[in-house]
Order: sequence, then structure tokens, then C-alpha cells
Amino acid sequence: MRIGDLVVDPPVVLAPMAAVTDLPFRTICEEFGVGLTITEFLSAHALSVGDPKTTGKLTASLDGRRFGVQIFGREEERMADAARLAVSIGASLVDINMGCPAKRVVAGECGSALMREPAIAQALVRAVVGAVPADIPVTVKHRAGWNQDHRNAPEFACALVEAGAKMITVHGRTRTQGFSGKSDPDVIKLVRDAVPSHIPVVGNGDVIDVDGYRRLREHTGCDAVMIGRGALGNPWLFARLRELCAGRPDPGQPGLDERLGVFRRHVDLIEQLKKGPRTLHEVRKACAWYARGLYGCNALRLKVWEAPDLATARAIVEDYFAQLIERQRRLGLSPELQGDREAREAQIDGDMSGDEAA
Ligand SMILES: Cc1cc2nc3c(=O)[nH]c(=O)nc-3n(C[C@H](O)[C@H](O)[C@H](O)COP(=O)(O)O)c2cc1C
Repeated sequence: MRIGDLVVDPPVVLAPMAAVTDLPFRTICEEFGVGLTITEFLSAHALSVGDPKTTGKLTASLDGRRFGVQIFGREEERMADAARLAVSIGASLVDINMGCPAKRVVAGECGSALMREPAIAQALVRAVVGAVPADIPVTVKHRAGWNQDHRNAPEFACALVEAGAKMITVHGRTRTQGFSGKSDPDVIKLVRDAVPSHIPVVGNGDVIDVDGYRRLREHTGCDAVMIGRGALGNPWLFARLRELCAGRPDPGQPGLDERLGVFRRHVDLIEQLKKGPRTLHEVRKACAWYARGLYGCNALRLKVWEAPDLATARAIVEDYFAQLIERQRRLGLSPELQGDREAREAQIDGDMSGDEAA
């Protein structure tokens, strides 16, 4: 996929996720071959006044890899300032959030609330386009619409493109749906059909495996797929998609050793890159992700949640994997829960439906 001069190959994007797509997580996904990562949404107001908590999340990808920064707000000047800041740290793309359903964001008339005010949304796009160099694409991520009766995604996307947006990402749920029900691929298709063909449209919502990726691309004609919750504890999905897109054989699911290896790498990155009081919390989340869908994962989560420090949390996970590997070797039992897909979906829904979800 091409966004202006920016080539995204494979056409797979990691979804911005608040409190999830921090630098360690993005790094893991990049190492597994995702085409592009984007920071979690950052308040333009907070960035423009130099709020340390928010500026701390404005992080460039490691080793010079390309990345996008997502911002939200509704004040043109603040949005322009935030976009300039993003470019100053090396962002290759600035994405504007017009899809967040969270109450605190919508109460400020930002995020998905902008889908009810296309003229203001257009003005924000123009302000950001005017603030960044011409070779930095400004893109927008939005939902199907505000509610079932106002599913204006195709017209809204066209208005944004007219204002200068160079890529549109559509999550096929409405604001009132939050994360319930299913993402509707038909609305993504309608957007793809409505928007000029040189503007890429990225489909998003409920893709958690290779088949889901294929289905969404075939059904909608979208130029790329954005994956969020399906990547939690499952970054090798990106390696599988990279191989698929290159016409090479699917490497399949990872073994237990590989899962453990990636867990270790992720925790190392958290320890290196995220010093501070929340480090243990971040490590606990990672522990739960890498065991997701495996035998005994719920008990592991509870144990890890009580671990008083990093070393204990790590040791619990090492021990858990050692036992699973032994169980598989001795008894030949699959480490995966029966109905793995359903188990993953249920856990993903359970973990990720809070107010953090934008
Ligand atoms: C925990 C969480 C945080 C999220 N934060 C953001 C965000 O910061 N910006 C954004 O545009 N979307 C955010 N989203 C929405 C995702 O980017 C994505 O649109 C949604 O999860 C649907 O895709 P999926 O089914 O692949 O997860 C968030 C979702 C979750 C679950």
C-alpha cells in the first residue's frame, strides 16, 4: 500500500491502542514484520502544553523504523502544534482520531463525536495538513458512524479526503456499539467504493487470524488491514501475514519455545524502555497476553497479578511454560485450549472492553 510517498509493505498496520501500543509492544510487532505501527492516541492539547505524561508517550520507533503518531482534539491550533511535535520526533505520518467512543473523549466533542460535525472535522484536517511538511501524509481513523441511524462513514471519509486526508481507516462499528457486536465489513466496502481510488482505505475490526485478513480484503477491496486486539500476545500473526503477502508458505502458529522467547523479549523491552511505577503492571499484562488461549492461562493470570515484583512475575511465567512444555513432551497433549479461537475471542473481549479502549 502507498500513502503518498510512504510505502507500507506488507499492507498490515498495527492499530493504535491506548495503554497497549507503547514502544515495547510496537517494537515486538515491527520485529515480526508489521507494515506500520502508530502510537496510541495522544491529546493534542496535552502535547501542546508539554504535559509530561503525554509527551512521554510520544516515542519514535527504534532503529529508525517508520511510524505514525495519532492525535486527537478539536482545536485547530493545538492540533497543528501536536502534529509539528510528532514530525519533530520523526513521525512519517500523522493520524487523527475521529473514532474514539470513550465517554471522556466524546464529552469533549472529540474522537467519534466529530463524525457528527463533518465541517469541523474537515477544518481539523486542513489545519494539520497545513502544519506538516508536504511529504508527511495526514490520515484519519474513524468508525462506521455515530449510531445505527447515522452510519455516515462513506460521506464523512470523502469530506476528509477533500480536506486533504491521504488515507482513511474505518473500524466497522458505530460509536454506540463501542466494542460490542461485530464490526461490519460492508461499511468498509462502502467507504472503499466512495473514496477516490488513489487514496488508500484501511479496513479494521475483528481480524484475529490469517483467514480474517483474507476475508476482509476480499470482501471490501480495502488496501490494507489494521489489526488491534488480535495482535495481543500474538505478534507472529504479522509474520504469517508478511509471508502470505510475499507469496511464501504460512509459517503457522509458534511453538511454546517461541512464545516463551517472545515473552522474554517483550519483558526485556519493557524493562529497558519503560522505567517507572507502572513497569510491573505492564509486565503483568504481557504475561497474560502470551499465555492467552493456552491450557491453565486463567490460573496463570491470577498468580501473576499477585506477583510483588518483576522477578517473581517472570519466574511464574518461566515455570508455567516449563510445565506446559513438559506436559506436551510427556503426554503429547496440545497446549492450546479446546476451541482456541473462541477462547481467544472471549478473553480479548473480556480484557479489552474498558474505557481505555478508544
Ligand atoms: C485497549 C484499546 C485501546 C484503544 N485505543 C485506541 C486509540 O488510542 N486510538 C484509536 O484510534 N483506536 C483505539 N482503539 C481501537 C482500535 O484501534 C481498533 O479500532 C479496534 O480495537 C478494532 O480493531 P480490532 O478488532 O482489530 O481490535 C483501542 C482499542 C482497544 C481495545
